Amino acid sequence: MWNEPHTPSTFPPSPEMQQRASASSATTLGHFTQTLFYFGARKTLHYLPKMERWVGRVAIVSGASSGIGAALCVRLANKGMKVVGVARRQEKIQELTKRLTADAKGEIHALQGDISKEEDIKRVVKWTRDNLGGADVLVNNAGVLHHSPLLTAPTEEWRHVLEVNVLALCAFTREVIQDLRDRGCDDGHIVHINSVMGHYIQPYPGMFMYTASKHSVTVLTEGLRRELSELKSNIRITSVSPALTKTDIMVAGGTPQQVADSVFEQNKSLDPDNVALAVEYTLSAPSHVNIEEITLRATGAD
Ligand SMILES: NC(=O)c1ccc[n+]([C@@H]2O[C@H](COP(=O)([O-])OP(=O)(O)OC[C@H]3O[C@@H](n4cnc5c(N)ncnc54)[C@H](OP(=O)(O)O)[C@@H]3O)[C@@H](O)[C@H]2O)c1
Repeated sequence: MWNEPHTPSTFPPSPEMQQRASASSATTLGHFTQTLFYFGARKTLHYLPKMERWVGRVAIVSGASSGIGAALCVRLANKGMKVVGVARRQEKIQELTKRLTADAKGEIHALQGDISKEEDIKRVVKWTRDNLGGADVLVNNAGVLHHSPLLTAPTEEWRHVLEVNVLALCAFTREVIQDLRDRGCDDGHIVHINSVMGHYIQPYPGMFMYTASKHSVTVLTEGLRRELSELKSNIRITSVSPALTKTDIMVAGGTPQQVADSVFEQNKSLDPDNVALAVEYTLSAPSHVNIEEITLRATGAD
């Protein structure tokens, strides 16, 4: 993973700094140091552990009650972030604190919200600002997958897919970036949980509205990057695109449990925390590096 070089403010480093550096280099999680010799001078570079700069900062994760969103809340809180988890089933988010490690430096706040309602999105962003100082990171993870054929499904079902997977993602992003800008915070990070189906059209009847919604996410990721670039903003935007991941998404969308079970029996799949680790990787990149896309698939999967 990434290490961001950080040169000491005094050069050459004082004996005290050198002692502190070598002590911390002996620890596995602390800073480690590297001494370079050039032109007869010696310079010590201090490398910060990857998620260090996000410790104590705030992340909103939508769709936090299950699957990838739940894994994300736990991973980011374990790494020291204050995580605001949002979903309709608030009690499921509250239970996530039991999954934190004993030495977790962060915390999870469970907020009830239906992100297909704009007022819920605005309420969550305001709550985060009023209670935690504002969101630095937004992970647009909430998503729905219905079997909704183009020839027969009711418009309401298509609308629901587009409202949650596309419009809510855009509204949440707009509100958080507005809040970042109001606070003069220019190192925020927006992560869209996309899908491999946002990049390829797979021949699954009934899945094309979902595929269209995820293709939209691909376009919206690049569109946001360009609009931010035009503003000379340093806010980063990343799309993370998993293939089949073992979650309840099919059952939540109306697929019978037995059918969903057989899909996971017959196909190799990722675990939710594999996707959460990819998000951690993008966050921990040096601030001048914007990882635009990560695609991940179970090894050996079709
Ligand atoms: N699983 C996969 O194979 C796979 C593959 C590629 C991409 N993805 C993407 O990964 C993301 C997470 O999916 P998952 O697999 O973890 O599915 P999941 O276990 O079903 O989780 C979906 C989450 O979205 C939330 N949600 C749905 N509608 C919502 C609404 N109106 N308001 C607020 N929250 C809402 C659900 O919470 P409540 O029901 O409590 O509101 C739940 O927490 C989705 O964007 C999905 O498209 C999944």
